Amino acid sequence: MALVNLLRAGERASAADAAEPGARGAQSARDERDEHVAALIEVRHAGKHYEARGGAQAFSALEDVSLEVGQREFVSILGPSGCGKSTLLRMIAGLAPCDTGSICVGGRRVSEPGEDIGVVFQTSNMLPWLTVGANIRLGAKLRKLPRAQVEARLPALLDTLGLAQFVDRYPHELSGGMRQRAAIGQILLLEPRVMLMDEPFGALDALTRDRLNVELLRIWQQSTLTVLLVTHSIHEAVFLSDRVLVMSARPGHVQHDVKIDLPRPRQPDQTRSDPRYGRYVTELSKMMGVF
Ligand SMILES: Nc1ncnc2c1ncn2[C@@H]1O[C@H](COP(=O)(O)OP(=O)(O)OP(=O)(O)O)[C@@H](O)[C@H]1O
Ligand SMILES: [Mg+2]
Repeated sequence: MALVNLLRAGERASAADAAEPGARGAQSARDERDEHVAALIEVRHAGKHYEARGGAQAFSALEDVSLEVGQREFVSILGPSGCGKSTLLRMIAGLAPCDTGSICVGGRRVSEPGEDIGVVFQTSNMLPWLTVGANIRLGAKLRKLPRAQVEARLPALLDTLGLAQFVDRYPHELSGGMRQRAAIGQILLLEPRVMLMDEPFGALDALTRDRLNVELLRIWQQSTLTVLLVTHSIHEAVFLSDRVLVMSARPGHVQHDVKIDLPRPRQPDQTRSDPRYGRYVTELSKMMGVF
């Protein structure tokens, strides 16, 4: 399967897995995943305040946020609107500085956007005058990645994302789901260690969202990616994650850290019929104050 080409050279589970991906390859990747070597993302007592306009008092968006995400983990963040989830992702991505505390990725303090981290936003940032193929290549071009390397990886990636037939189309000719897949492709082409996702499927219908959830899990499962996802959907968080972090209202901090002990690989019908799935959804709903 083309997906296996997404694995970083030298980091493949084994030659056998590469030759025979599927249940065994996924299981092997899973086994490796369980050996979380060390935290890849470390947020320590981070805080952020914003100056208010017109002389009003500055306010705290985030206060004393601490969290860790292990290598190859899939972690989701839930929290009320305005609690600082996007701010936190921007800080981890190096797009905004923290005012207090520290953030390290891969043991190095984050001070600016780095090559290890890719960000997928709620709406894709595709340039309307470029084709889908050119948009997906754009990040690699800006980063001056060797063209041969990019072109070698592209067909498998397009195949994985179901976009092979659409490389020469323009963004306005795609559905919302396809545009989000293209945005994810743009990031995956850069082979980041960490993919930060800020409500990437929030604007999509339930069916498309389900399908993209499954695709995202397949990509993650067979690669070495670490994913930190912000979502408003408790169901999405439970279905996808190893752990779900629940943030408090503003100033946001991490209130709960819930381990999701459901077997992988996950499939919507099987996973959702597991009684533990319902219990996690109920538990998280209570934490979120839904009921
Ligand atoms: N650049 C900025 N300047 C001033 N205030 C900001 C800025 N960015 C965010 N804020 C404020 O910080 C707080 C947190 O915003 P943030 O976008 O991080 O919340 P969020 O949890 O992502 O919300 P949502 O779930 O609605 O996306 C909000 O009160 C917001 O108004
Ligand atoms: Mg947000």
